[in-house]
Amino acid sequence: MGEKIVEARDIGHAYVRGRATLRGVSLGISRGELVAIVGENGSGKTTLARHLNALIPLQEGELSVTGIDAGDPSRVWELRRACGMVFQNPENQFVSSVVGEDVAFGPLNFGADEPEAREAASAALSAVGLAGFERRDTHALSGGQQQRVALAGVLACDADVIVLDEATSMVDPRGRDELVRAVARARDERGTTVIWITHDMELAARADRVVVMREGEVAADGIPADVLA
Ligand SMILES: Nc1ncnc2c1ncn2[C@@H]1O[C@H](COP(=O)(O)OP(=O)(O)OP(=O)(O)O)[C@@H](O)[C@H]1O
Ligand SMILES: [Mg+2]
Repeated sequence: MGEKIVEARDIGHAYVRGRATLRGVSLGISRGELVAIVGENGSGKTTLARHLNALIPLQEGELSVTGIDAGDPSRVWELRRACGMVFQNPENQFVSSVVGEDVAFGPLNFGADEPEAREAASAALSAVGLAGFERRDTHALSGGQQQRVALAGVLACDADVIVLDEATSMVDPRGRDELVRAVARARDERGTTVIWITHDMELAARADRVVVMREGEVAADGIPADVLA
């Protein structure tokens, strides 16, 4: 396949010295791919994901995302813009209770002026099916809508890679489907690369590729039909 947008080589990590949470993780992801990462609780999925936008500094190995070296502290902000995250609990990731302000926060933070940021926010809200939601209260939205606001926040920054870490686990089936559709649309229209961490095997089955984590290692990596069989 084409250009590798994520390249991890032999990543090792331990929160506590001597207790490895990641052991020699190597992974290449091509631009535009939709990769599901599955695996038991505690297998290291979130730890790996947090490396991708420097929420966890690299201890061992090599990692580049969109050509940015994740081991280079001077490029943390560039990396965070290139690779956005949507977490399990949207409430924890809002910086404003006003939808439009929340979505505009990223672009502002990355140097856009007010009108540019507002425009990027409105475009991103439209892209996730929430056009006209700018003045709504984030707390008054459904879980699914909240996750789409979080996704819009990432899209407004023009992220090349989106990591969703159990983003649908607190959302009802309808909310899940709406989020899936919004992500699919971002892929189609922007060529966004998607890394979807999930325990939902139905979701994983629809990915281009499934990576199975086990005890801090990549235990399997291939097309859903092979890996999930
Ligand atoms: N901040 C932390 N400090 C110490 N240990 C941690 C920390 N975060 C995670 N761990 C440990 O690291 C290991 C991997 O955790 P991680 O959250 O990456 O797993 P996961 O695959 O995302 O699990 P889940 O499916 O439950 O989300 C686990 O043993 C966990 O207890
Ligand atoms: Mg996790």
